[in-house]
Amino acid sequence: MEIGTPLLGDAKKILLLGSGELGKEMAIEAQRMGLEVIAVDRYDMAPAMHVASRKYVVDMMDGPAISSIIKRENPDAVIAEIEAINTDALVDLEDSGYRIIPNANAVKTCMNRIELRRLAAEKVKVPTSNYAFAESAEEVKEACKDIGYPCLIKPEMSSSGHGHVLINNENEVENAYKESISHARGKGKRVIVEEYLKIDTELTILTYRYSTGNGITTSTFQPVEHQRPSYYYVESWQPSSLPDDVISKAKEYAIRVVEELGGLGIFGVEIIKSGNRILFSEVSPRPHDTGMVTMASQDISEFQVHIRSAIGLPTPEVKLVSPAASHVILAEREMWNPKYINIDKALQIPGVQIRLFGKPYAYEKRRMGVVLATGNTIEEAKEKVRKASSLILISQ
Ligand SMILES: Nc1ncnc2c1ncn2[C@@H]1O[C@H](COP(=O)(O)OP(=O)(O)O)[C@@H](O)[C@H]1O
Ligand SMILES: [Mg+2]
Repeated sequence: MEIGTPLLGDAKKILLLGSGELGKEMAIEAQRMGLEVIAVDRYDMAPAMHVASRKYVVDMMDGPAISSIIKRENPDAVIAEIEAINTDALVDLEDSGYRIIPNANAVKTCMNRIELRRLAAEKVKVPTSNYAFAESAEEVKEACKDIGYPCLIKPEMSSSGHGHVLINNENEVENAYKESISHARGKGKRVIVEEYLKIDTELTILTYRYSTGNGITTSTFQPVEHQRPSYYYVESWQPSSLPDDVISKAKEYAIRVVEELGGLGIFGVEIIKSGNRILFSEVSPRPHDTGMVTMASQDISEFQVHIRSAIGLPTPEVKLVSPAASHVILAEREMWNPKYINIDKALQIPGVQIRLFGKPYAYEKRRMGVVLATGNTIEEAKEKVRKASSLILISQ
């Protein structure tokens, strides 16, 4: 394997489809390794664009638009950084020889809750919540006869908790179904109906595939644990305090699903612990937001692993260097050109690091940054990130 010089004839290039905070960290890792980085997103001044050699602003659901950029740039790897991408275009590009990370089919399957549930629960047979698929309110009612109330419905395609609606009884089904599909990506009418789980805690098993030179190996990080006040991530930590038998089950399920998805790179496999049930929930075919903690807890972060895998390089070992935690910095309201106050105070706390994503525009609950901290224990690290993030204010 040879790496050329960025911006010259033999540069190795990666192209990011999606240039958010995860893309920004991938771009930084790629730059450190002397790769050329091209950032694509639907809006200008997106986080990864600040650290890329070139950028393009296009609608990524527009197949011809992304195809023409990829053909012009001819990158060594195309990294799908978000879900809302025209995946049929990715399949065509892969067929014509471009390397899509992890692979076009995995990206397509993971963005579709129904396809993914079929693969996990029916094909590789890992345990999941009880579920059914429905495409009308009537079908949801029918499904709930088996699943029971309360249940949760989610659009076939959506992300970040959009369109998740809790249904407590049959009278709520009609409105819940309408509400759910109004948040679906595209014109989808299908939903997954899931039993509503009482969640004790959640794990992200970061599972990665890399080329060893004569084959591909699948490996996992130590689990990242997180608890959520709502459907989105607020705080995560590593390592998990769950017992070994739970962790080994979670890792086994993650490996089974990821090996079926195939390709190269990292996957964030989401596992739910509910009583004594350990359940596969879903998987992102890319670094995971809860995995930002690996920038503080490990010698090699999820972002560096993804970049190494993407261009065909190995990562035979990843070490945990310290217990650590991460906590998001969220905006409270809409504004252009936000300013961050009290960063100096937050950094007075030993072991704290701050990442500000540089998003040009904020809105309520938009993730604008993350606080990371190491500690002698998980508890200490969590306390530090809570304290630091509570000090930081966003204003105009
Ligand atoms: N069946 C369920 N019962 C209770 N809570 C759930 C269930 N499924 C998901 N959740 C909660 O909602 C969060 C988001 O759900 P998920 O399926 O991962 O959707 P998204 O694609 O939006 O991340 C999960 O991390 C978990 O906290
Ligand atoms: Mg999720």
